Amino acid sequence: MQKKKETTKKQFRNIIWSYYEAHGRHDLPWRKTHNPYKILVSEIMLQQTQVDRVIPKYKKFVQTFPSFVSLANGGARDVLLLWQGLGYNNRAIRLQQAARQIVDMYRGKLPNDQSILESLPGIGPYTASAVRCFSWNEHVVCIETNIRRVFLHHFFSGQESVSDKEILPVIEKMIDIGQPRAWYFALMDYGSFLKTQIENPNKKSRGYTKQSVFNGSDRQIRGKILKLLLAEKKSIKKKSLESLLDVDSERLEKILHTMIKDNLIMIKNRNVSLK
Ligand code: ADE
Repeated sequence: MQKKKETTKKQFRNIIWSYYEAHGRHDLPWRKTHNPYKILVSEIMLQQTQVDRVIPKYKKFVQTFPSFVSLANGGARDVLLLWQGLGYNNRAIRLQQAARQIVDMYRGKLPNDQSILESLPGIGPYTASAVRCFSWNEHVVCIETNIRRVFLHHFFSGQESVSDKEILPVIEKMIDIGQPRAWYFALMDYGSFLKTQIENPNKKSRGYTKQSVFNGSDRQIRGKILKLLLAEKKSIKKKSLESLLDVDSERLEKILHTMIKDNLIMIKNRNVSLK
C-alpha cells in the first residue's frame, strides 16, 4: 500500500515536471522576478484575465508604477487608464488602496504573513499564498482554476461536486517542497494545457463558477461608463449617460451606485466624475 502511494506521487510529479520542462511558459515577465510588488500586480491582473492579455498591460503598469510607493502616489485616472482592457476595474482601485496601506502601515514593504496579506484590499487566500510562494519561495498550499483542473483530472476523475477542502490535502501531499515556486508554475502551465485537451473538469467542482455573459451586462455598462469618463477628462451628466449608453435611469442609478461603493466615481449635482 505504502509503496503504491509513493509511486503515484512520483508518477504525478514526473508528469508535471516533464510537461514543464518541455512546454513551460518560462518567459512570462512576472516569472522572471522575485519582487513582491511586481508579483502582486501580476496576480491581481491574472485573477480574471487571460495570460496573453495581461502580458502587455503588466509590462506597461510596472514600468509606469515600479513600486508600492509610486503606485500609492499615482493618480486614480492614470491607474485606470493603464488598466483599460483588463476589465473588472475595481481590482485596480483596490490594488492602489492596498499600496497605500502598505506604504502607510508597513513602510512600503509587503508583509510576509498570510493573515496580514489577506487583510489588504483585493487580496484573498489564493493571492496571499501565491505572493508568498512566488516572492519568497514559501511552501504554501493553494488552489486556483488551473491547479484545481489538474487535481480534479488526476485524483477525482468521475466524481461530482468535489470541494476545494477535499482537493487541498492532495495538493499538499503532492507539492514538491524543494522548489515550491517552480512547482506551482508547472502546475498552472499543465492545468492550462489540460483545458485545451479535455472537457472542463472544473465544472465538477463546488468551487467552480461560470463567468457570466458579458454582452449587455451591468459589468459591460460599468466598463463603458469608465471609458467615457476617462476620455472626457471631466464630468458627464447622468442624463447624457442614459442616452449615450441607452439604459433607463433606474438601471443607470443602480450601476452608478455600485461604482460609488467601489470608490471609482462620485456624483455631484447630477454630474458623474472619476473619484
Ligand atoms: N504565473 C504566475 N502566476 C500565474 C497565474 N496566476 N496564472 C498563470 N501563470 C502564472
